[in-house]
Amino acid sequence: MTAQIISGKEIASRRREDLAEKVKNYSGSGTPVLAVVLVGEDEASEIYVRNKKKAAAAVGIGCEVMTFASSIGENALLEVIDELNENPHISGIIVQLPLPKQINSLHVLSRIRPDKDVDGFSPYNAGLLSYNHPDAFVAATPKGILALLLAVGIELTGKNVVIIGRSNIVGKPLAMLLTNHNCTVTLAHSKTQNLSEAVRQADIVVAACGRPKLVKADWLKEGAVVIDVGINRVDGRLCGDVDFEEAKEKASFITPVPGGVGPMTVAMLLENTFEAFCRQQNNQACCCRHCCS
Ligand code: GUN
Repeated sequence: MTAQIISGKEIASRRREDLAEKVKNYSGSGTPVLAVVLVGEDEASEIYVRNKKKAAAAVGIGCEVMTFASSIGENALLEVIDELNENPHISGIIVQLPLPKQINSLHVLSRIRPDKDVDGFSPYNAGLLSYNHPDAFVAATPKGILALLLAVGIELTGKNVVIIGRSNIVGKPLAMLLTNHNCTVTLAHSKTQNLSEAVRQADIVVAACGRPKLVKADWLKEGAVVIDVGINRVDGRLCGDVDFEEAKEKASFITPVPGGVGPMTVAMLLENTFEAFCRQQNNQACCCRHCCS
């Protein structure tokens, strides 16, 4: 079997076009604005933030990037969050991670007002997701993975899913989201025993562990759906956590790296930002919540 490639690039592009149309046709007052808090000089974070700003502009969403030296103290950062929470022109707030060591990210993420927490990283929104509550802002990468699976028509109910990687950003929220969609989820991690055996039972495999080409073809059940969240640079080239060349001969669907999950993450963040804006303006949801959750 040769897998169908799931083009996140194309699916994300269509979603951004739809979103741009919704933003343009919004008949109320004001415009959605995303505030991005960037601390320190992490090169990868700077690139991610630049991409978010460019993508926001293309769909008609404002993006204000606030940068701070890595020496900023936790209290000073909490005051920045307080000001953004109170600013009526700001629809959504994200704090780019990782934060410098002296700052407790849980303290900072907990301070973001839940209705502006468009990354869905606060304990409040993580809790709403675990309750399968429709008001939950769902983290962008898990939301993007779900959107990819639904876009190519994969039935989720009753499927065995193995997620490799238990991060707060991807693995844990994705486990909750897919459980809410009636999957049976195994959340595997670096201490999991017989990982390849576990993966072999999976109808859907999500690799999100940051280990280049870890998942091999002989780990996969014939016809498995393979979602690769990894972005690794090896000898100057990008590769995922799945050995793509091997795995595509065994899988039924597979995401490439680059051009798979990555573009979806930014598109979902922008959808969440517009959703936050609509809720704040109208005190109701007007997009996304019912069509992609
Ligand atoms: N760092 C890595 N991925 C993300 C993300 O999706 N959002 C934020 N805020 N930081 C990140």
